[in-house]
Amino acid sequence: MIEKINRLLDEIEHLSASNADEIEALRIKYLSKKGQISLLMDDFRNVPSDQKREVGMRLNELKQKAQSKIRSLKEQFTHNYNEISDIDLTRTSFPIPLGTRHPVNIVKEEICDIFKRLGFSIAEGPEIEDDWHVFSSLNFAEDHPARDMQDTFFIQNDPQIVLRTHTSSVQTRVMEQNQPPIRIICPGRVYRNEAISARAHCLFHQVEALYVDKNVSFADLKQALLFFAKEMFGHDTRIRLRPSYFPFTEPSAEMDISCHICGGKGCNICKNTGWVEILGCGMVDPNVLDNCGIDSKIYSGYALGMGIERIAMLKYRINDIRLLFENDVRFLQQFQSAY
Ligand code: DAH
Repeated sequence: MIEKINRLLDEIEHLSASNADEIEALRIKYLSKKGQISLLMDDFRNVPSDQKREVGMRLNELKQKAQSKIRSLKEQFTHNYNEISDIDLTRTSFPIPLGTRHPVNIVKEEICDIFKRLGFSIAEGPEIEDDWHVFSSLNFAEDHPARDMQDTFFIQNDPQIVLRTHTSSVQTRVMEQNQPPIRIICPGRVYRNEAISARAHCLFHQVEALYVDKNVSFADLKQALLFFAKEMFGHDTRIRLRPSYFPFTEPSAEMDISCHICGGKGCNICKNTGWVEILGCGMVDPNVLDNCGIDSKIYSGYALGMGIERIAMLKYRINDIRLLFENDVRFLQQFQSAY
């Protein structure tokens, strides 16, 4: 018996394996229930009692050696394996600079964050939309000229399917599915068939806000707008509302902020007026509420919408919207943010 143990000890000492399957085969050969060491253990009861002590000690030694050998083979194997898989042979040999957030993204987060503090939550909807959600439900009559205010991309062969021209389409979707109180902001990408210039692009981003409940008034809208303007552009900012027209709001207004660059004295950003236009807003037209299954005799609401690029351009003093879509890293690297 001792001889057998010594032979196995020697054998185990010199074991080697080149993959996980081989290690498993060795484990089965020596350590499984029918393995060589277990068989010796079974034989132990036949050992004469005066040798039991020594044989027992040697057997234990053998078992421990076998276990630790298998363990170390496994470790060696996983170690090698990791070493190989950690090497990315396709990686450039130059240090890779860390990316920065896109300015449109930074400003979007900032706008959403301000409205979240007023209790608004985020809602999203599809970019490929139907006529109902982009126009008809929002009180654009079939051949109303207001449809021309937003040059629309149509999907070929189906004039009912469009690329959304504004995120106001999300307000309809949310109102169709929910009853008031509704307090949402809808950030997203929109498309318009416009010639690309320093001031306009065929795709850009908007944030829409909608609040519907009992007794929502124009005063609530004005207060939310003032809060937003001060949080976004600084606490000295003043706002001014000018009457305007949108099919989905009545009354409608456009909001200007006091020029944060010249402080209202007049500069080329505000074209010497001291004011800069930043968003459209108004009280949700009762027709829109009724179109979406919300009783306009009980509920009222306000809505507002703004272009994110416009806000980003004002905030960072960018004079050409195309810079925001060219993805030139020298431009993008300049923007750092807490968002
Ligand atoms: N949807 C408008 C646009 O794209 C922006 C807008 C104006 C949204 C007034 C509104 C609003 O919710 O009340 O020009």
